[in-house]
Amino acid sequence: MKLLEGKVGLITGALDENSIAWKVALKAYDQGARIVLTNAPVALRMGKVNELARLCQTEVVPADATSLDDIRRLYEKSMELLGGKLDFVLHSIGMSPNVRKGRAYTDLNYDFLQKTLDISAISFHKMLQTAYQMDCINPWGSFTALTYIAAQRVFPDYGDMADAKALLESIARGFGYHYGKFRKVRVNTVSQSPTWTTAGSGVKGFDAFFDFAHKMSPLGNAPAEACADFCVFLFSDMARYITMQNLYHDGGFSNMGVDPAVILKNSE
Ligand SMILES: NC(=O)c1ccc[n+]([C@@H]2O[C@H](COP(=O)([O-])OP(=O)(O)OC[C@H]3O[C@@H](n4cnc5c(N)ncnc54)[C@H](O)[C@@H]3O)[C@@H](O)[C@H]2O)c1
Repeated sequence: MKLLEGKVGLITGALDENSIAWKVALKAYDQGARIVLTNAPVALRMGKVNELARLCQTEVVPADATSLDDIRRLYEKSMELLGGKLDFVLHSIGMSPNVRKGRAYTDLNYDFLQKTLDISAISFHKMLQTAYQMDCINPWGSFTALTYIAAQRVFPDYGDMADAKALLESIARGFGYHYGKFRKVRVNTVSQSPTWTTAGSGVKGFDAFFDFAHKMSPLGNAPAEACADFCVFLFSDMARYITMQNLYHDGGFSNMGVDPAVILKNSE
């Protein structure tokens, strides 16, 4: 019996084979789920998501996750393709024009900040609220969004994405209450280690930062494949009482103070 046998879901944010969502899609498919893929129209032109769709025997439905009309059409089309309501949704969407353009946290462009928040956090509320109002998720369904520990601790070069992640995690708790009461739908965030992807490597000094986190984590940085396994677990019935949580998937990094390996390196 496969973990997601009989389940159907929607996966956002697969751009290329490095994307965390790409790995989640493949694992969910391997575990017996039928899925629909989606990404922003511009990403469909640049990325390779159609290749992934062939591997998962499915279709890609374009949608800008900041547009309520697009999200509504996305759910309608997904239900049409999958033959009914959904069991799981992955939110794997993040982008900061401030970070991209190298704007420091002390010199933010506020129009860019609005975009960062809308794309990286409010889009999750929009996806939840639209699903709730359309009542298009089966009871005990699962929403999972990807986040980063910069929501709790300071990582200066992560810029305004830290604020977006704090909002994203708050939305998971807030909506988790309402969706739990309404349909026993679960809402969680997974706080993942630094990972080599288009979004991840866009952060200044990402390589040094990746090495630092790797040394500070007793198990090392969690790879994208392992993150995908964890997301599949959260979609499954094995995790049916986990909701409103921010779950660290980071090899132990979040509970570390210091590791001698890091101090020795810096004092060499
Ligand atoms: N890479 C890391 O180090 C890391 C660590 C922790 C959390 N995360 C989070 O994981 C998630 C996935 O990122 P990734 O690292 O796989 O990088 P990625 O660049 O492969 O994925 C980001 C995706 O967001 C999509 N996107 C951007 N704007 C959109 C919009 N308006 N509508 C719909 N989709 C849009 C992009 O097209 C892309 O597919 C993000 O939330 C990211 O913050 C990443």
